[in-house]
Amino acid sequence: MKLLLVALCSLGLLVGCGAVSQAAIADRQVHLQPALIAPSATLTPKPTRTPVPTPTLTPRPTNTPTPTAVPLLPTLDPEAELLDLRLAGVRGSRSGQLLRREAVADLKSLIDAARRDGFVLEIRSAYRSYAEQASTFEGWVQYELSSAAQAGKPISRKQAIAYAATYSAKPGTSEHQTGLTVDLLPQGAPEIGFRIPDPLKDWLNANAYKYGWVQSYPIKYRDGELITYELMGYTSEPWHWRWQGRDSAKALYDQGYLDTDSLLVPPELPRICDAEHDPCTILDVASTELVAIPTSTPIAVAE
Ligand code: DAL
Ligand code: ZN
Repeated sequence: MKLLLVALCSLGLLVGCGAVSQAAIADRQVHLQPALIAPSATLTPKPTRTPVPTPTLTPRPTNTPTPTAVPLLPTLDPEAELLDLRLAGVRGSRSGQLLRREAVADLKSLIDAARRDGFVLEIRSAYRSYAEQASTFEGWVQYELSSAAQAGKPISRKQAIAYAATYSAKPGTSEHQTGLTVDLLPQGAPEIGFRIPDPLKDWLNANAYKYGWVQSYPIKYRDGELITYELMGYTSEPWHWRWQGRDSAKALYDQGYLDTDSLLVPPELPRICDAEHDPCTILDVASTELVAIPTSTPIAVAE
């Protein structure tokens, strides 16, 4: 019944859906109706979308100068197990949520530290298989199609894919598929209309690195203009954290990757993530260094 109500609300077929969800829909801080995704898939909170003029993605630059080398990640075992977080005793997790063994103890430490400081966290999403990511991404495509149609401005599937890809990774490309990434929300955060509160955002930014966690898509400005999407190919996600190990995370933090005016961004994790390599295999952890994006260098745009 709950799913049906949410679906009807989202489709505008039910009046009196509540101020929260209506406001959320209005400002596009909206989750998909759960009916659109497979039961096992977990949606990432939908960020406010930066207007995207054309259906293009900006990949992170490669071969850009790296001003300061950072410590290498610990060697990862390509065959590492995915552990059930609930069984591993991680608070705020659900049974069936998986993470690679290397990251579990540091996730537990982060969650416990947050709790001591008054933030009760919930793991909204952890490892996602290729199939789960495909389902999640398709859900957002459907959301873009239906919300555009509802607004009386229908868009093509190609356009919907381009919009969805500004905040959701296409299957085969999500960090969640590595088994090293989690989305951290306050406990009980709504499925619809979620917005990460500033105190929690600030706490995570100030503390997550101590436990080995790096925010993959931090907010970035250049000359007062929001450029997170331009730099990283996604809008900012203050809830999306990936494990790199404590030394590496501290080095990135010390170099100021979270400074909104710094053009240093975390590198992409080199990996294979496709249907035949699932969970993803980490190929070359040694290449994990900050990526510097000089202001004077035009950023390549690819389809
Ligand atoms: N929301 C991030 C980009 C993902 O889907 O992995
Ligand atoms: Zn995420």
